[in-house]
Amino acid sequence: MAIKKVGVVGGGLMGSGIAQTAAQAGYDVLMAEVNQELLDRGIGRVEGAWKMLSGKGRITDEQAGEYRGRFRGTLDLEEFSDHDLVIEAIIENQDEKRKLFAQLDKITPKKALLVSNTSSLPIIEMATATGRPAQVAGLHFFNPAPVMKLVEIVRTIETSDETVEQLRGFAEKLGKTPIVAKDTAGFVVNFLLIPYMLSAVRMYENGLATQEDIDTGMKLGCGYPMGPFQLLDYVGLDTTLYAAEAIYKEYPDPAYAPPTLLRRMVQAGRMGMKSGKGFFEYPEKR
Ligand code: 3HC
Repeated sequence: MAIKKVGVVGGGLMGSGIAQTAAQAGYDVLMAEVNQELLDRGIGRVEGAWKMLSGKGRITDEQAGEYRGRFRGTLDLEEFSDHDLVIEAIIENQDEKRKLFAQLDKITPKKALLVSNTSSLPIIEMATATGRPAQVAGLHFFNPAPVMKLVEIVRTIETSDETVEQLRGFAEKLGKTPIVAKDTAGFVVNFLLIPYMLSAVRMYENGLATQEDIDTGMKLGCGYPMGPFQLLDYVGLDTTLYAAEAIYKEYPDPAYAPPTLLRRMVQAGRMGMKSGKGFFEYPEKR
């Protein structure tokens, strides 16, 4: 089956970034949200990116017009009835995801692939909410989705080889490099990245160095584009906490246990860039 029509459920940071990337790669993209306000915000984010890219001369007005012609939003999941691939990028709540996968299973064509962008939840639980577990997998993008070159294809014990190959072709057409990971908490990247960020929080909590110096250390000492605290704020402290909890649940090793400071910051509503305050402050985002 050739993938032509791509659906994205969720117009948040990741959903809108994935939708933007797919429209740029030539796919017809429909992005769904639960209400008009969230849908407008998601569409605005994609429009804003295309405006920024044409402002910088990275794309022509003609290209921007073509992308716009291939992209639209909806509040009605029934519109996915003729889609070949639907990518879920809603909140990290397994009950909500299972409900959505069961709905999509009823709506989409029998051959369609249903995938999740989750960073931490078991894909198999979404697969078993459908009658087509062989066509369900994880397709994990990295933030910012239009820029980061990696996509993790997460295969469950039920995912077919054909599904993996179709997703590999799709990821490559997006200009990404796919890697295949098992359906275990953290997959490949977060299994390494999360304990690194948690270690940085522990170092800071224990007074070993300032957050600025730890960031400078990793940027200049290792050539990372962002230090761990900048990255924590960028990814979101809540997202990091959920991912850490999911990994710790499967691998109860102290390296994966969320430090108290991280938990307290999330409890205080300091989610990072998106809330205007995390390890650093972002007054313009408040
Ligand atoms: N669409 C297309 N291009 C975009 C874009 C968008 N929405 N947003 C930015 N860009 C382009 C810019 O146009 C720019 O291109 P140019 O160099 O040709 O002008 C390029 O991306 C870089 O953007 P900026 O100049 O604005 O910013 P920086 O050079 O400072 O780079 C960054 C920003 C790419 C975010 C870089 O700091 C970085 O790589 N940081 C690390 C990010 C990272 O590690 N992400 C993974 C997080 S983990 C994760 O997501 C998994 C989850 O499960 C937790």
